[in-house]
Amino acid sequence: MTTTNDTATFTVENRIAWVKFNRPEKRNCMSPTLNRRMMEILDELEFRDDVGVLVLTGEGTAWSAGMDLKEYFRETEALGLGATRKAQRESYGWWRRLRWYQKPTIAMVNGWCFGGGYGPLYSCDLAIAADEAQFALSEINWGILPGGGATKVVVDLIPMRDAMYHAMTGELIDGQKAAAWRLVNESVPLERLEARVRELAEVLLKKNSVALKATKDAVRRVKEMTYDSAEDYLVRAQEAANFHDNTGRKEGIKQFIDDKTYKPGLGAYDLAKQN
Ligand code: COA
Repeated sequence: MTTTNDTATFTVENRIAWVKFNRPEKRNCMSPTLNRRMMEILDELEFRDDVGVLVLTGEGTAWSAGMDLKEYFRETEALGLGATRKAQRESYGWWRRLRWYQKPTIAMVNGWCFGGGYGPLYSCDLAIAADEAQFALSEINWGILPGGGATKVVVDLIPMRDAMYHAMTGELIDGQKAAAWRLVNESVPLERLEARVRELAEVLLKKNSVALKATKDAVRRVKEMTYDSAEDYLVRAQEAANFHDNTGRKEGIKQFIDDKTYKPGLGAYDLAKQN
C-alpha cells in the first residue's frame, strides 16, 4: 500500500516499510509540516504486524538537506517563542520516537545529508550510504552552531578531531568518508544502494523481533552506563523481554541442541517453527 500525503510517504512491501522524505524540489529539507507527517507515519507503522523493518530514505537527489531555513526557522521565529518551541518539539519528537522505535530501522542515505538531517540519521539503528551521498554540518556556513542534536550526534559517532573539523569547517564528506568515520555503517555505489539495504533488512527479518528491540535499546542505553549498571540493566532487560516472548530462546536452544537444524554461530533459528 502506498500513501501520498506529499511531504513524506511510505510503501510496505515484503515486511519492509520504505519511508521517504518527499520534498525533492526542496531537497527534502524538514519543515514543520514534514515533521508532523513523519510522526503520523511512525505512529501508523510502529505496531503493524506486516512491518518488520523500517527504511528511511529520500526522494530525488537528497536524503535530507536538514531543517527548512524558511519554514522551520524564519517563519516560526516570526511567530514568537511558542511557535519556535513547538517546531522544535515536533522535529525532535519524531527523531526521539525513531530512536526508540519498536522495529529495527535503517537509514538509506541516497544523497545530500545536512545539519538537522543528522538527527534522524542517528535515530536509525543502522545506516547505509551511497558513495555519491554528501554529508556536512553546514550550520557554520550560515552562522549558527550545529543544533538539534547534531553536535551530539557527531561527538557520539565519530572521533573528536574529526567531529571538531566537521563542525568547524562545514566541509562536505562523501559516503565513503562517512563510512570510514563511522557516521554510517557502510557505503556502496548508488546503483547498489537499494539492493544492499534490502539484503540487510532481510537479515533482520529473520531474527526474533522481541530480541531485536531489546538489543537495539540495550546498545543505546548501555553506552551511557557504568559497567556494573550495564550488567544489571542487561539482566533485567532480558527478563523483561521474556515477558513478551518466553518461547523464542527456548526454541533457539532446542533447534540447535535437540533438532540440530542450525548453528547459532552461523545464522538464526527458524522463526517459522516457533509456537
Ligand atoms: N531550507 C530551505 N530551503 C532549502 C533547503 C533548506 N535547508 N535546502 C534546499 N532548499 C530549497 C532551495 O532554497 C531551493 O528552493 P527554490 O527552488 O524555491 O529556489 C530548492 O530547495 C532547491 O535547492 P537548490 O539549492 O537549488 O538545490 P541544489 O541541488 O543546487 O543544492 C543543496 C542542494 C542541498 C547543496 C543546497 O540546497 C543547500 O545548501 N541547502 C541547504 C543545506 C543546509 O545548510 N542545511 C542545513 C540546515 S540545518
